[in-house]
Amino acid sequence: MSDAEQAVRLELSEQIATLIVDNPPVNALSAAVMSGLEERLRAAHADPQVVAIVLAGAAATFVAGADISRLQAIGSGAPLGSGRSLAAILPLVESGEKPTVAAIDGFALGGGLELAMACNARVGSTRCRVGLPELKLGLIPGAGGTQRLPRLVGVQRAVDMMLGSTQIDGRQARELGILDELVDPGSNVVERAQLVARELADGRRELRRALERDDRLEPLDDARRIIADARAAAAKKHRNVGYPDACLDAVLEGVEKGAKAGFSREQQLFRELLVSDAARGLIHVFFATRAAAKVPGVTDAGLTASPIERVGVLGGGTMGSGIATALVSAGVEVRLKEVDDAALEAGVARVRGNVERNVTQGRITREQGDATLARLRGQTDYAGFSDLDMVIEAATEKVELKQQIFRELAERTSDRAILASNTSSIDIEHLAPEGAAGRVLGTHFFSPAHIMKLVEVVRSAKTSPQTLLDTLGLAKKMKKTAVTVVNCPGFLINRVFMRYGQAAGWLIDRGVDPYRVDRALYDFGMPMGPNRMGDLAGLDVSVFAAGIMDAAYPDHAYRSALRGLLVEAGRLGEKSGSGHYRYEGRKAEEAPKLAGFVARARELAGSPEPISPSDEEIVQMALFGVVNEACRAIEEGIVVRPGDIDVAAILGMGFPAYRGGPMKWADGIGARAVHDALADWRTRYGAALFEPSRLLAGKAKSSASLLD
Ligand code: NAI
Repeated sequence: MSDAEQAVRLELSEQIATLIVDNPPVNALSAAVMSGLEERLRAAHADPQVVAIVLAGAAATFVAGADISRLQAIGSGAPLGSGRSLAAILPLVESGEKPTVAAIDGFALGGGLELAMACNARVGSTRCRVGLPELKLGLIPGAGGTQRLPRLVGVQRAVDMMLGSTQIDGRQARELGILDELVDPGSNVVERAQLVARELADGRRELRRALERDDRLEPLDDARRIIADARAAAAKKHRNVGYPDACLDAVLEGVEKGAKAGFSREQQLFRELLVSDAARGLIHVFFATRAAAKVPGVTDAGLTASPIERVGVLGGGTMGSGIATALVSAGVEVRLKEVDDAALEAGVARVRGNVERNVTQGRITREQGDATLARLRGQTDYAGFSDLDMVIEAATEKVELKQQIFRELAERTSDRAILASNTSSIDIEHLAPEGAAGRVLGTHFFSPAHIMKLVEVVRSAKTSPQTLLDTLGLAKKMKKTAVTVVNCPGFLINRVFMRYGQAAGWLIDRGVDPYRVDRALYDFGMPMGPNRMGDLAGLDVSVFAAGIMDAAYPDHAYRSALRGLLVEAGRLGEKSGSGHYRYEGRKAEEAPKLAGFVARARELAGSPEPISPSDEEIVQMALFGVVNEACRAIEEGIVVRPGDIDVAAILGMGFPAYRGGPMKWADGIGARAVHDALADWRTRYGAALFEPSRLLAGKAKSSASLLD
């Protein structure tokens, strides 16, 4: 059998040809699957023994989507090769001589759903999940999805599903009209599809082609309004990218001029997007996120992860309550320990509040909420700690306190229990009591911990691979993305982004308006500029953390006096009603009084000559230092691979994902250009902050990629 024949198997029974896509693990549309589909479809249409065709997937899933590495290769300039596009094959599915029926168990996503929608009918199981998530990758559906979905479910639903990259289950898909029949999971999906295929062949059931339907489309004026509203909402949500508009353009063309015109518009837009920076960035992030889960010497060492089912959380403050929420929500039993009844009550109330919000906002049901909270137990002693699989310490940030806690934990837990600290600044090795270092590590969550997806898993030289592996398993269970980092001050994100805050201060001391700095970085795609972010985190916290980081990395540090001056004046940021900005509730307004503080900070900096950078230069001055520090972290072996920094920066700092993360973004500019700019600022302004790192200098010299 050829690759294509293996990738799409054929079973012929009672004149029904069942084509089974078999490309483990998720039946992605590889070149072999595409050729297999085309060959098998042509053969089945030509075979007089066959009256109808069923399309199904092996291993209890339909087709989970495109082969993304193929898309990435094409986006990077590789030729399309001999493989056909799915769009070119679908006429054989929708309008061939014999009727076709999709049998959907498991996933039908992206190209998988496009394939199913081209069939003349669809049978799905209750556990199936369908959706068009292409926009997550900066693309749009490229095989007629923008035309067929609105024709099956109406423009409003189709636009919501595509713009939200939403997955829906079988029941919802049946209600919306994507599925014609809903059955229980398992072999009966294919059997039922075969019966439907026979009914179509016998003329007992009406044969329908999604592309020819218009019974579900809203009247033209309504459709236009829906699309205009969606455009306005997307413009707010997605800055600097064209793919939401492109998706809506293709839908609009279809409803205004018919499916054929809409289809060619979709094809043209899809090809343009495939080579866009946004798609390249997002596809890079897709692969980088997968790669981050792999830690050499740990995940490939043949170890078996032990499941973590019972966890103690020490401290029910801001972080402890968020961590406890994420744990109980993931099905983990939690013992939350606090210092006294009042603190415990407050901590438990915070967890309760978080879970209740999930219920009232419809993310979970009342029953699920109750079951989640039943997994939480509050206490002020160590009762039951000997049975725990892990303890996560999120107590007040004081070295002696934490060392004391770790000594107590080492005595009161079993010697298999993992001991983790959520510290943001304390050396993990200083926390590990004698004899227990192998089971100690850092789990650095980001605030709010029940919402933010990133956790930096911090290993010391002594942390055992098993401890790390089990913790990575827990992170996955909690639906977090773990990035493994070697212990160093600030770990990864706080370390590399200290340069961001430093550069913002440097720009201000050089006469650049703080609000302009913020606007430039917001326009670049950051959720907010560095000054607004400082206000949000609290300037007192920021000044305290800056002191620790500057002491740890004194060589290239730059600190403007501005934040210290603001703190002295009681302007702590949003929480005190003013900082760089003044606040009406959460709304930030520019504060005229800031000018006086800025002038004083400039004086303290020696009134350096003002500069007048462009917005682009502001962004580069703020972020090239981050890339430079990331290069130092790579050189020191702090992270496994550069892509880990991209994943962490996107999830931890809100760096725009469509730019691929700081390393991917900088790589697009080129190591040499980044290096030369830093070297130029270093010399021109005498600013050690911009001193290029050795690794960056080496990459610049050899024109090497920043991603290798
Ligand atoms: P917090 O002050 O809100 O909460 C700390 C809690 O620990 C308090 O409720 C306190 O009563 C409790 N506590 C003190 N000693 C304890 C003990 N022996 N046993 C049990 N509980 C005890 O502080 P927050 O912000 O939650 O920080 C906790 C840890 O997380 C710190 O190490 C901090 O550096 C780190 N962190 C904080 C982040 C943030 O954004 N707030 C982000 C990442 C890490």
